[in-house]
Amino acid sequence: MKKTIAIASLLGGLMVALAGCGGAPAGQQEKAGVEKGNLAGARIGGPFTLTDQDGAKRSWSDFKGRYRLVYFGYSYCPDVCPVDLQRIAQGFRQFEKQAPDRAAKVQPIFITLDPERDTPEVVKNYVSAFHPKLIGLTGTPEEIAAVAKQFVVVYMKERPQGSTDYLVSHSRTPYLFDPDGAPIALIPVDDPVTPDVDEGSAEEVAKTLDRWVK
Ligand code: NI
Repeated sequence: MKKTIAIASLLGGLMVALAGCGGAPAGQQEKAGVEKGNLAGARIGGPFTLTDQDGAKRSWSDFKGRYRLVYFGYSYCPDVCPVDLQRIAQGFRQFEKQAPDRAAKVQPIFITLDPERDTPEVVKNYVSAFHPKLIGLTGTPEEIAAVAKQFVVVYMKERPQGSTDYLVSHSRTPYLFDPDGAPIALIPVDDPVTPDVDEGSAEEVAKTLDRWVK
């Protein structure tokens, strides 16, 4: 996604923002020795009600008690989304094999940023290609805009010259949330700007899940 929003700088900005609100004095930390993820304390997430791939209403609170692996994208995405989702699904499968009991506590969720084309039927077809547990959510453009804002996801429609179809530039934000819906950490996916073999493999996704899902 060459014309995509500068994700690295967006995430960089996020990290800076997090660094700014992190680093609480030792006395304010809940417990010494409790490891915090890179999204701990970030204001990401919040209540919503959207429509799943079967047309049922799904709310953020429905997932209470479960870890949530949330990925925002769109099914017509030509390159980045399918690669990321593939990797996340592979990593999740790996984690399911190595720790089935803990993996059962994780709900992977795909939320579209292209609600006009991603109807429940389209989303159903899309998510089923990646993992049987993956829930796909869509809604009205207004609902999606509100959720994207709550989850600090940036996206924008773009029409390449000479094309009748539009693309949706969007930030890449695979988030892991805890059973109370608080953000824990970013799931590693490749940075398209500076690809790094140590980052973004299915192995790394599995490791991240293993590290945080208790
Ligand atoms: Ni995409």
